[in-house]
Amino acid sequence: MPAFAFEIASKLPKVGTTIFTVMSRLAAEHHAINLSQGFPDFDCAPELRALVTKYINSGLNQYPPMAGVAPLREAIVEKIATLYDAHYDPETEVTVVPGATYGIFTAIATLIRPGDEVVLFEPAYDSYAPSVEVSGGKPVYVQMRFPDYSIDWREVQNAITPKTRMMVINTPNNPTAGVFSAEDLRVLESMLRGTDIVVVSDEVYEHIVFDGHQHQSVARFPGLAERSFLVSSFGKTYHVTGWKMGYVLAPKELMAEFRKVHQFNVFVANGPIQYALAEYMRDRDAYLSLAAFYQKKRDFFLEGVKGSRFKPLPSRGTFFQNLRYDAISDEKDTDLAIRLTKEHGIASIPVSVFYREPPSHKVLRFCFAKSEETLARGAEILCKI
Ligand SMILES: Cc1ncc(COP(=O)(O)O)c(C=O)c1O
Repeated sequence: MPAFAFEIASKLPKVGTTIFTVMSRLAAEHHAINLSQGFPDFDCAPELRALVTKYINSGLNQYPPMAGVAPLREAIVEKIATLYDAHYDPETEVTVVPGATYGIFTAIATLIRPGDEVVLFEPAYDSYAPSVEVSGGKPVYVQMRFPDYSIDWREVQNAITPKTRMMVINTPNNPTAGVFSAEDLRVLESMLRGTDIVVVSDEVYEHIVFDGHQHQSVARFPGLAERSFLVSSFGKTYHVTGWKMGYVLAPKELMAEFRKVHQFNVFVANGPIQYALAEYMRDRDAYLSLAAFYQKKRDFFLEGVKGSRFKPLPSRGTFFQNLRYDAISDEKDTDLAIRLTKEHGIASIPVSVFYREPPSHKVLRFCFAKSEETLARGAEILCKI
């Protein structure tokens, strides 16, 4: 192809190849145990695969309705009502989307104009800031306190200006594996009362909360639900990250605007998979058993690294376990992550990549959504470092 001859004013000049791509490539090259990638190395339930096949074979292969198929929208609002005691209208207040990342991007694109400020919490999932910047918005960062990753809500209050249009929150949190308490959400609810600030609440790990704690959804807090886009993902819940299926809930006024953008962005999410998910959601146990399933994996991995020089930080939700390495090395986490992959055959993600200006915390993130065999081999390597 001949080169494009003109200068391109990039909308995302700082975005290059991400560490996730780098680590996965390195892990493959060095045949390393790959605990860097945030997705399962096991398959979804055969029943779910069979349902997708059933709906494809039954000929439901053309465009579904723009907001999502009715049975799935109904199943979603019913689940939310049962779990969080919040009542969304399936007609006007829920939209099925091709993945949570898309839902977050579209919610931001729906409301953010050049110059608008969006409060983000660092460390942050990597899609938030670019999604804001593509719309001309300005990310305003509040750092969670190290090492417990708690939030200083006075700092959040100070970050709010007349230009603040939105705030993106994420609980359970990637990469910190922390969860918001009910008190956190109550403080946020009262802080935002009387403002027109909209919350985008990334709750993709809603069913992966450990040690008997409850997921604190914005849906549980009327003062937050009335101003929030609640975004979730079937990918995390049903071990199908490659399907890119999720949903967004919001009060009808916000959802009407969201759908205007969604309509011309993708129009619809995959049809037959929606019918399959709707039917599969009848089995409540599939999502209600997820926390115990992952807690067992977390505990198995923690037991395995007990004898190592790595120090675990609390993992209260998600499928990530962060390990501090202060006792092992002074290296930057990016350097160590690369060295461990090349020299020891284990890949992780350095947590500094989730910050705009990397702090010097010495923490690596390990994904435990893996088979016990993989986790055992990974832990064995970590014990020798
Ligand atoms: C916090 C967070 N939000 C969103 C996503 C993406 O979800 P989806 O694959 O449905 O776009 C991820 C995936 O890693 C995540 O960790």
